[in-house]
Amino acid sequence: MFLTNPYTIKGKRMQNKIQSMNLIKKGMVTFSIACASLIIMNTTPIQAKGPLATDIKTVVLGEKSSLTAERINAVLKEAYEKFKDNQDGKNADYIKALAVVDSKLFGITLVTPDGKIYEIGDTEAQVSIQSISKVFTAAKVIQEKGEKFLQEKIGVNATGLAFNSIIAIELHGGSASNPFVNAGAIQSTSWVEAKDSKERWDKIYSNMDDFAGTKLSFNEEVYESEVNDNKNNQAISKILDARGRMGSDPLEATTVYTKQCSVNVSAHNLGVMAATFANDGVNPITGKKVLDKEYVPEMLAVMATAGLYDNAGDWLYLTGTPAKSGVGGGILAVVPGKLGIGVVSPPLDKFGNSVRGQLAAAYIIEKLGINPFAQ
Ligand code: DON
Repeated sequence: MFLTNPYTIKGKRMQNKIQSMNLIKKGMVTFSIACASLIIMNTTPIQAKGPLATDIKTVVLGEKSSLTAERINAVLKEAYEKFKDNQDGKNADYIKALAVVDSKLFGITLVTPDGKIYEIGDTEAQVSIQSISKVFTAAKVIQEKGEKFLQEKIGVNATGLAFNSIIAIELHGGSASNPFVNAGAIQSTSWVEAKDSKERWDKIYSNMDDFAGTKLSFNEEVYESEVNDNKNNQAISKILDARGRMGSDPLEATTVYTKQCSVNVSAHNLGVMAATFANDGVNPITGKKVLDKEYVPEMLAVMATAGLYDNAGDWLYLTGTPAKSGVGGGILAVVPGKLGIGVVSPPLDKFGNSVRGQLAAAYIIEKLGINPFAQ
């Protein structure tokens, strides 16, 4: 027989009440995070339509051809002429230094796996690499820790949400989903093996140099502009840390991540970096092996799934090609075994992808008949 203990009942009621209050509080926190994410997504001031679904399909006729130098040069020139006056899109301005970059810059570089270079336009003009850096840091992580680690600790699925979304983390079980959204990129940075922040940064920077085959410069102005205004990324890193997914101090990793985004690249650099992937991880200009061949397919798969964020499906549908964009206006696309494509053009669509970059790269892939799904 059980005697009813009034204190226990009262205690139980109290406990229930506290639990309900905690639930309400938890709900309110989740709701606030959701609202904050939505506000951030909605106020990210990149407003333009995605260019691909409409324009490319109507301008490209799907010719097949061999990759002769003459053909490459002809298609490159056509792409440049066709899109150089396109006025769609807008520079990113949530990082203030990006708003003042010359919107007219437009350069395209194509690099073959045997090291031949074809270029047109402002191919030496430099913009900050921004999110394209995420590819190289993720490559460093997969090289150091293996494919299982990248898949399980960070993830390899698309989020279907903006690259800076906080709610995406909550919706996917406290995980970043993939290394190309800000959350996953900050995570990747934190997992690069290093004894301290300086060593982590040095490794990340020199890895990008190796992909480019040259010493890349650092954009101090962009770095200062973003590092003093990156509270959203800091919040992301803290949430991931609370979920046990960070490999180093969250704010330290965010600072190193911000540095890696501030490295300068030109279309020429991006073309060589893309060609290093197209050439099984060996830089075609320097001959240096930068990534083990076995990891190249995984990196390309994530680029195909999430390289252009919530526009990745449209992009893949039309080009069949792994690619990665950055809000500085750069884009790289990799046609395995055939071509590395680098484009710089700062105005972005609403997803944060270079408008002319997508149009030019998609046109070149289609006109040269090198869509990997159509071989
Ligand atoms: O963290 C950020 O928001 C920027 N440093 C990079 C974002 C970015 O490039 C997204 N890409 N299209």
